Amino acid sequence: MTRRIDITVDPLAPEDAELARAAQLLRDGKLVAFPTETVYGLGANATDAAAVAGIFAAKGRPSTNPLIVHVASVELARGLVDGWPASAQALAEAFWPGPLTLVLPKNPEVIPDTVTAGGPTVAVRMPAHPVAQRLIELAGVPICAPSANRSTEVSPTRAEHVRAGLGDRIDALIDGGATDVGVESTVLTLVEDPPRILRPGMIGAQAIKEVLGRALADAPEEVIDTAHTAPSPGMSKKHYSPRARVMLVEEVPDDLGEDGAIVLEGAASERVVVLGAAPRGYARGLYAALHRLDALSCPTIWVEMPPQTPAWRAIHDRLRRAAAE
Ligand code: TXA
Ligand code: MG
Repeated sequence: MTRRIDITVDPLAPEDAELARAAQLLRDGKLVAFPTETVYGLGANATDAAAVAGIFAAKGRPSTNPLIVHVASVELARGLVDGWPASAQALAEAFWPGPLTLVLPKNPEVIPDTVTAGGPTVAVRMPAHPVAQRLIELAGVPICAPSANRSTEVSPTRAEHVRAGLGDRIDALIDGGATDVGVESTVLTLVEDPPRILRPGMIGAQAIKEVLGRALADAPEEVIDTAHTAPSPGMSKKHYSPRARVMLVEEVPDDLGEDGAIVLEGAASERVVVLGAAPRGYARGLYAALHRLDALSCPTIWVEMPPQTPAWRAIHDRLRRAAAE
């Protein structure tokens, strides 16, 4: 018995007629997976506590891990929070729509506790993907959306990853092809002074500092344990994990046997994925590489470590988590 509706759209120019059905499902409290520029999200009406509970159930996500609320305009974002500081305005002007999530005090009249795991803050983001933007506009409500994967598994960057991971636990899946950025948004809290990056993403600390004209708090090098609710529970150590054991190494072994490998340069083969030495392209392909090698049942995935420079920060973060026991 299948309940999922599959909708395929042109990622750059989706038609309203195609998205209208999904928007209606969202208004009806259903779960709709859709592409954003980072990864696929599993969306629900953020003002509907029962729909939001459905997200946690479908993902097997601990109720202590809050969700990001997605909006189609700055105006809508301002309605979700209690106060919109000049820093938020400057960052939104510089990076929205785009892969930056801002944590601010929440407006409790709009956002139910289930979304924020009972906390006093809310994470908001305005995605750049045309499908996400138009879907949110047509739905006419803020949409909370975690990555559309089972909890702790690798995030989806293609519709088939969502299909394989969530199957019929969802009501609709919008296929808009492969996502562009490939790793999740940068999460920045503005409720602390100075602001702090809770989750590194492809919008880096330096770019944020330049817009704010001030330093950020040092990001924690050590990841935070799952048991703690604050400050960003998604920072749990084991996350983004394939079934295979992931080994981070300077150099992958010559004889791979049944194992797979992700390398920066060299010759690709069925079990060797070359992601290239440019961080953008590497990020774009990383999760698809993990999904692919996992689907081949590689017992171990060897990953050649990328350079230790700021542009690779988000990638190192995700690789460390994928490798965590
Ligand atoms: O790129 C993305 O952000 C994707 C796409 C779908 O938009 N979404 C995503 O959601 O990665 P999720 O649920 O997989 O990760 C959300 C992260 C988690 O680390 C969570 O703990 C953190 O944001 N977060 C959410 N609300 C928060 C809050 N109020 N305070 C601190 N951290 C929060
Ligand atoms: Mg996630």
